[in-house]
Order: sequence, then structure tokens, then C-alpha cells
Amino acid sequence: CGIVGYVGPRDSQAILLAGLSRLEYRGYDSAGIAVIDGDGGLGMRKKAGKLSVLRDDLAAHPLADGKTGIGHTRWATHGGPTDANAHPHLADDDDLALIHNGIIENFSALRARLIDEGYSFRSETDTEVAAVLLGHEYRHNGGDLVQAFRSAVAQLEGAFTLLAMHEEHPGLVVGARRNSPLVIGLGDGENFLASDVAAFVEHTRHALAIGQDEIVAITPEGVEVTDFSGGPVEVEPFEVLWDAAAADKGGWSSFMAKEVSEEPEAVANTLRGRIRDGVVSIPELDGLDDLFAGINRIIVIACGTAAYAGMVGKYALEQWARVPVDVELAHEFRYRDPVIGSDTLVVSISQSGETMDTLMAVKYAREAGAKTVSICNTQGATIPRESDAIVYTHAGPEVAVASTKAFVAQITALYLLALHVGGVRGTLTPTEIAQHVLEIEAVPEKIQRILDRSQEHIEQFAGWMADTRSVLFLGRHVGYPIALEGALKLKEISYIHAEGFAAGELKHGPIALIEPGQPVFVIVPSPRESPVLHSKVVSNIQEIRARGARVIAVAEEGDAAVLPFADEVLHIPVAAPLVEPLLAVVPLHIFAMGLATAKGLDVDQPRNLAKSVTVE
Ligand code: G6P
Repeated sequence: CGIVGYVGPRDSQAILLAGLSRLEYRGYDSAGIAVIDGDGGLGMRKKAGKLSVLRDDLAAHPLADGKTGIGHTRWATHGGPTDANAHPHLADDDDLALIHNGIIENFSALRARLIDEGYSFRSETDTEVAAVLLGHEYRHNGGDLVQAFRSAVAQLEGAFTLLAMHEEHPGLVVGARRNSPLVIGLGDGENFLASDVAAFVEHTRHALAIGQDEIVAITPEGVEVTDFSGGPVEVEPFEVLWDAAAADKGGWSSFMAKEVSEEPEAVANTLRGRIRDGVVSIPELDGLDDLFAGINRIIVIACGTAAYAGMVGKYALEQWARVPVDVELAHEFRYRDPVIGSDTLVVSISQSGETMDTLMAVKYAREAGAKTVSICNTQGATIPRESDAIVYTHAGPEVAVASTKAFVAQITALYLLALHVGGVRGTLTPTEIAQHVLEIEAVPEKIQRILDRSQEHIEQFAGWMADTRSVLFLGRHVGYPIALEGALKLKEISYIHAEGFAAGELKHGPIALIEPGQPVFVIVPSPRESPVLHSKVVSNIQEIRARGARVIAVAEEGDAAVLPFADEVLHIPVAAPLVEPLLAVVPLHIFAMGLATAKGLDVDQPRNLAKSVTVE
């Protein structure tokens, strides 16, 4: 869910709505705002559906405006996406409004207790329980909202960010944070609270990161942060490195189109400042050389697209740094008593830095004694704060739910890490490192070439396939995670059944799926760089062709061997084997986007998904 709060001299409604539109990637089942108006009354409006439904409703039936407000965009957990279940939730005779991100795990026990005490409920949500509880505590704490928060959060279990305001306190918004994101935006005579800096970056780039289990009160004049028991805490100021324009669609038809076009830049910016004269130098990893020299295992944890980036990274980390690597889905990792210790390095990957599954896995790993490095794209996010070291991907804000530019940036960061660790461990010579660096540095220009030469053609081709009901993707070696990523992207935004397989696994089962006309994408390794793998994949192509598959090959420019067996070839520039996935994925991103667009779907906000899943 996305959360925003405002206090200051300006009317808050437009600020809240603009903030919510930048947070809509976090969920778009329903949206709502509450404001304390000029007469000191609390007004609230909430609607099921995307933010535009709320916007239209407010335009048709305006709500009195005021200078204090909170807003929410929801990704439903408890209770379907209805008007009643949307946030804000009101309590204390509708004088108090509260919004929430996360899950309150003990909500049914609390709800039963509050019902016993005479309270009634209007929704099925865990959030309303928090609102009613806060209202109750407000009355028992003599109308002190901050104190009421302290009493209320002490009774809540689970993960949450809560924001609330009370009619009796115009000019005050109070927030509490446990595990879910919340950052402060410091303006001039005005202040903001939000799940993500994107919500306020057009007003200020000065931000403060709030830690776990902290309560923050903002007024137009200042902010006060305390821990759950009222003790003072130190907050971490940071400057947002990008401006509002970076999070705008610009002239593009969708954020996804813009973000695919930024894939070359995402790689280049992630490399920038980290390579000097062929030597990899990552200042963020200073002081960790002894750790890297001593580890005997790396576990990569992530979810979704980030996990596929991790799978690609495994090949580089093993080949270059000679450390065994396991890649684990974060949500599977911590519930099976994994073997970890002080010689295990856990590398987490997360675009948002907020994915709850990944966050919990990182915490678990740290508690078990492992050192943790996080690869993350979002400043001020939670996972970096919970890690021993952080390597930022500098892909810029990614708004479309389906990840694209962050994926190539994550692989780039993993490669830098692998080269760095390989250098420290002496498994790579400086000459080898310099050679790999050269190859990676050529990637942005090569991705650009794919975009310039093939984007239009791939989109057109995707359009012809708009009625397709199932697409398979095959790859070997680093092509395997790319096949998985190609299939995920298609599922996410075009709702077509898609599966990725290791090409060699085909004959052990999935080949039974092949019937005449079945489209199969095959990621073909380079014939020059990987001749053995190349010929194996060409054999796999023949096996499926013999059974009627329609083969779409993603192959290197000039690969003549594949031509006779492919119905369609999407060309990528020549590259070293480990660099190839950074190129091969680009046509698949374009294809998924082209197909979803041809089907008339919203590529930025696909159904049921949210970009940043802050619940387990
Ligand atoms: C969600 C998104 C995916 C994303 C995954 C991991 O499921 O829908 O697109 O890959 O989260 O997100 P993260 O922010 O941790 O990279």
C-alpha cells in the first residue's frame, strides 16, 4: 500500500492526490484521503478502484479542503477492494482518521476485545481495528495523539506503518513504523510523510529515514521522532538523488515503455564511479575484504524478477569468485532452518528494498550470524538499513509494476560484486578483471542497438501474437533464468500462460506440452563463445520443431546455424557468454510489453499485482 501525509500552509488535497499517483504502483485496488478542513472538521472520501475513481468522485462532489491531510492507495489483504474496506478508517466518533500499510496479525483478538468493550466496526479490515484501538487509547491518554500511538502500537503484532490525525489537532500528523516503509520529507514550513520519497520529491528532496519501531509526529514547523517507549532516536538525513521529472512518464505511452528505453542507462549508471582504469572499486564494500576472503558460501535471496537476476549472478559469482552460490526465494528461505553461519555471505536483491519476504529473510540471516550485502534501487528503504553493506543499483525510480531496467541493473551490480570478490580472493587476475570490465562496459551501447534496430519489429511481431494463449521459453546456462524472466513478464502484464524451462529439462517432461503451433522462445547461446552449449540448444530446437513448435529464437547477430530451424529470429549483438543475458532479456521485455499493449491492457498496473509487496 502507499501512504502519504501532509502538514503545512497549503491546501492538502491536491498534494495528497499527486503523491498518491506517484505511489499507485504500490497498490491500486482502492484509494482514499482525509483532511482537516479550515473549520477544524475532519472530512474523508474513499473509493474502490484506481485513484482516478477517487479523483473523479472528488471533482464531482468536492470535499472541503484543509492544510492537514493523509492519503492511501491500497493493495488488498484483509477484506476485498470495496469502498468500506478502503482507507482511511475513522474512529473516535469519526474525529480520527487512520491509514495503514502491512498486516496486523493479532487483529481478530483485538477486534473481539474492542467489541466486548462496546465498539462496533464498519469494515472487515485489520486496519479499522487499529483505528478503533487508537481512538480508544486517545481517550485514555487525555487526547494526546502521540501517547495514544505509543499505547496502541504496544498492543499490535505484525508489520505496519500507521498514519493518523485527529480533528482536535489540526497541523499534526502522527506516524508509527514497524517493518513497513515510512520516510519524512522536510519542506519549508511544511512537512511530509510517505511510503516512498516519490510522493513528495516534487516539493522537497530533503528526506529523513525513520528506523524500525519509531513514532514520528510532523507539524508545519518540525518533526519529532521517538522510539515506541518515547525515548529520543537519531534519524538519518539523506538527499534524494533524482528529481520529480525522473519519476514522470515524460512523453512515453507508459512507464514500462520509458523504463525499457532506460535499460542502457540503468546499466551505465550502475557501473558509473565503480570502475577505474579497468579496476572494480566499490566504496560501499570497503572494509569487507577479510569477509570476502573468508566466506565459503554465498546465498542469494530475492523474489520475482530480482530472484532471476540472482540466478544470473550465480554463474558469475561461481565462475569469477569461485564460491558456491545458492539462489533462494526469500519466502522459502527462512522457514526451512537453512544452514548458515559466519562464513556465509547472504546477498539480497530488491528493487524496492521493501519486499517483506526479502526483508524477513535478511533479518533471519543476520540473526543466524551471516553477513549481509543488499543490492537495492531505492534510497532510504528498509532492507539496506538492515544489511551490513549495500550496493545501490542506480536505475532511477522504477514505476511500472513489472520490473525491467532494475533487472539489468541488478545483474550489473552482481557482476561488479563478483569481480570485486574474485579480485579479493585472487581467483581472477587483474588482466582478467579488466577484460570482463571491458565487456560489461560495452553493454549499454549494445542494449541501445537492440532498442534502435529491433524494438519496432518486436512490437509488431508481438501484436500478431495477441491471440496466443500459451508461450514457452527455453534457455540453458545463463539463458535459463532469462527464459524464466521472459515467462514471468508475459504472465504479469499480458495474462497469458507462460512457462520458462531449462532447455535440457525439456525432454524430461515439458516436451509433452508441445503441440503443433505452440510458440516457444529459445535463448540461443553464442556459436563462437559457447559452441558446445550452442549446439545443444540447436538440438533442443530441432526436437521441438519436429513436434510442430513455432520457434522464436533470440540469437546472436550472424548466427547462421539457427536460421533454418527458427520461424522468427530476434537478433542480439555479439557478447561474452556472461554478458549475453543482459542483452537477451531486452527483446523479451519488449515482446511482453508489445503483446500486453496489443491486447489493450494496462502494462503499468496489471491486475492483482503491486510493485512493492510489503506483506508476507
Ligand atoms: C513483486 C513485483 C515483482 C518484483 C518482486 C520483487 O512481486 O510484482 O515485479 O520482481 O515484487 O520486488 P523487489 O522490489 O524486491 O525487487
